[in-house]
Amino acid sequence: MTKIMKTYHELIFGDAENMKELKDNSIHLVVTSPPYFNAPFDYPDLFESYDAYLDKMRKVARELKRVVDEGRIVCIVCDDTLINGKKYPVVADLTKIYREEGFIYRDKIIWIKPEGYIRISRRSGVILQHPYPMYFYPDNIQETILIFQNGKFDYKKVSSGVKEESKIDVEEYQKNKWYLTTWNITNVLPFKNRLEEGIAAFPEEIPYRLIKLFSYVGETVLDPFMGSGTTNKVAAMLGRNSVGYEIDLELCEIVKEKMGLKQSSLFKKDYDVEIIIRDDARHLRTYLQEKVKKQKSVVKNAKRKTKKLI
Ligand SMILES: C[S@@+](CC[C@H](N)C(=O)[O-])C[C@H]1O[C@@H](n2cnc3c(N)ncnc32)[C@H](O)[C@@H]1O
Repeated sequence: MTKIMKTYHELIFGDAENMKELKDNSIHLVVTSPPYFNAPFDYPDLFESYDAYLDKMRKVARELKRVVDEGRIVCIVCDDTLINGKKYPVVADLTKIYREEGFIYRDKIIWIKPEGYIRISRRSGVILQHPYPMYFYPDNIQETILIFQNGKFDYKKVSSGVKEESKIDVEEYQKNKWYLTTWNITNVLPFKNRLEEGIAAFPEEIPYRLIKLFSYVGETVLDPFMGSGTTNKVAAMLGRNSVGYEIDLELCEIVKEKMGLKQSSLFKKDYDVEIIIRDDARHLRTYLQEKVKKQKSVVKNAKRKTKKLI
């Protein structure tokens, strides 16, 4: 039987390009999903350009190279982004960045969502209106889980006791087909009034599998783009410590709720949570809404001026 020990979770509000709270080689696994490049629903115009986005991703990758221990794994849930009909090759570019920063490209899992769970508008309908060649735009029901490794892992370093406590349930592994490069998992739809409203949260099943497959009980899992704190919650459930970084201070209450901090203190938890708020944390959602508002008024003014000229 697994002996669950008390775990510790440090949730830091600040920019993940600087993880100064973490010592070199102190992290045993990273499970994360970076912001989708200027995704219209979640981060409209967050980045000035695609190059600026990739530059931020590189800075975080560099920090991960420093904090991730020898031989350990970084899992990145991401996908190519479609904006105004143009595709941005995020998967290929992140693979290139992580390789250039010194990680080994170990694997790629395709996470397949149920067909009825598409969040963005369907593109495939175009061909129903124009059933001719060249009108084909498929609906995307997948995301990619990129798996990188920081050099070679020394299996001898793990004690037999810890190994036993972290044993993978082979029946679950076989039954739910963890062994394939495609994982069929239902995604979280951010419906109104859900805890994850407005956050592109991943389902708990993703960190659940990755944490079980790539870390041992008592080790530390990091999510540099914490969002609502899914990775941290699952790490606590599985007897792992965790660290999270999130730039948006507006998510603090959601993270607290997900980590069970809003429940009565009579409910005894087998983990401790510390929340740190740094000076570089921002009120991102408000900032983005204001940015969109400003843009709209610029467009309105421009239209008014053009009318006058005519
Ligand atoms: C796709 S969401 C992560 C969702 C998370 N996996 C969950 O289940 O809730 C990406 C998160 O990264 C955050 N973020 C964006 N830029 C950041 C940065 N430079 N440092 C830390 N967090 C950042 C966004 O605010 C957003 O909450």
